[in-house]
Amino acid sequence: MGKAVIAGNWKMNGVGAAAEQLACDVRDGAWSLRDRAEIIICPPATVLTRIAKAMEGGPVMVGGQDCHAKVEGAHTGDISAEMLKDAGATHVIVGHSERRTDHGETNAIVEAKARMAMNWGLRPILCIGETLAQREKGRAREIVQDQVFNSIPHEFEEAGGIVAYEPVWAIGTGKTASVEEIAEMHHYIRWLLGNRQMGAVPILYGGSVKPAIAASILAIPEVGGALVGGASLVASDFLAIAAAAPVPAA
Ligand code: 13P
Repeated sequence: MGKAVIAGNWKMNGVGAAAEQLACDVRDGAWSLRDRAEIIICPPATVLTRIAKAMEGGPVMVGGQDCHAKVEGAHTGDISAEMLKDAGATHVIVGHSERRTDHGETNAIVEAKARMAMNWGLRPILCIGETLAQREKGRAREIVQDQVFNSIPHEFEEAGGIVAYEPVWAIGTGKTASVEEIAEMHHYIRWLLGNRQMGAVPILYGGSVKPAIAASILAIPEVGGALVGGASLVASDFLAIAAAAPVPAA
């Protein structure tokens, strides 16, 4: 496997100079981690242009947190893939469980968003994962299979797409899935992606990733990196997670 992809999802956090400072602190620490990690930060759209400018020429890439499935038009409050591109983004998160829940996003909508992102040359970070209720009913694999088959567009691998497995019950709860649970599901997702001729797509783990447990998660076969929420708001924590990634074999 190649370098770990370590992406920070700032969610609805970050304004003005403090947000730019956080990004700059991440950038300053990221130079020495280039051998092991591809680092991406996804700040709120309102500071995206400012942060993308500050990151120019550095080791940190910048992504959006969502984009609309349509090119443009009457969609008040929404942000298009073209706008993200224009603001300096290279990546965009789509299908995050908070979007799927708060905004009723279905697999079909997520698939359309990812396609639009790809059309504009953005690399989608496409999130999948089951809820606690689904896991307790023994439906985790079925849900994940449905998401892999129905929310990931064709040509996703060619477009540099990234999948993030985020069990909903581990997001923001401080409850991480066990190494065994992560290993089992990532192995399954790798197999599903293989069925879709997308065998080389990186699969990130997300859900309460913290520095103390990062090394054990990033060492799991088929874990290609991490999508980090809360800990990405503290530069030293986020950098410590990236530093825990194994250096890829030459
Ligand atoms: P936490 O790391 O805060 O659990 O969030 C994970 C997440 O949702 C990243 O997209």
